[in-house]
Amino acid sequence: MDEVLFRSPRKRGRVAVFLSGRGSNFLALREAVDRGTIDAEIALVLSNKADAPGLLKARESGLDAVFLDPKAFAAREDYDRAVLAEVERRRVDLVCLAGYMKVLTPALCEALRHRAVNIHPALLPSFPGLHVQRKAIDWGVRVSGCTVHFVAAEVDAGPIILQAAVPVLQDDTEETLAARILAEEHRIYPEAVRLYFQGRIEVRGRRVFILGPGA
Ligand code: GRF
Repeated sequence: MDEVLFRSPRKRGRVAVFLSGRGSNFLALREAVDRGTIDAEIALVLSNKADAPGLLKARESGLDAVFLDPKAFAAREDYDRAVLAEVERRRVDLVCLAGYMKVLTPALCEALRHRAVNIHPALLPSFPGLHVQRKAIDWGVRVSGCTVHFVAAEVDAGPIILQAAVPVLQDDTEETLAARILAEEHRIYPEAVRLYFQGRIEVRGRRVFILGPGA
């Protein structure tokens, strides 16, 4: 078996959520934190969009909500250096991308290696990229779903932590399929973060092993 590349820390975690839109996954994470299901606090919510509804909700609930304007930076690398500074300043253990519509630079991916995860609304490696519910319907697949994975420099290609499947129905529209998938996103994203801070996630090669509770 491949050697262990990473084992997640067992600790009370400090989480950052990056988002660009609605923020329903952020809310699912926040609820799990509030309920105590995830042993963590949300130390930062960061957005590249000033008016992202998720950012406004975070601010309303008193969280540290930061808008970082991409237009204020000459280069993508400069922007991501500023992003990393926000993360490190707050001693964040794990960054959760939740509808963050900016591709991270390779340097930021490297700096956050095994410290950043993403939720994607398809069963990777099928349908990476955007508009994937539409693509799943158009391709004619019978099953789709969602994937929580580590962030790597190649988009939507990092090691897979959890997946959930849903049926694709004959009369599905992009909206009905997206809603069915989203319900599963809201379940498995908090679950992945919970496992992370229970110290139960181990990476070997490109496989992720979920360790037992007593491991
Ligand atoms: C979700 O479908 C997620 O899988 C994708 O972007 C969408 C974000 O939705 N990465 P929300 O902002 O969390 O409601």
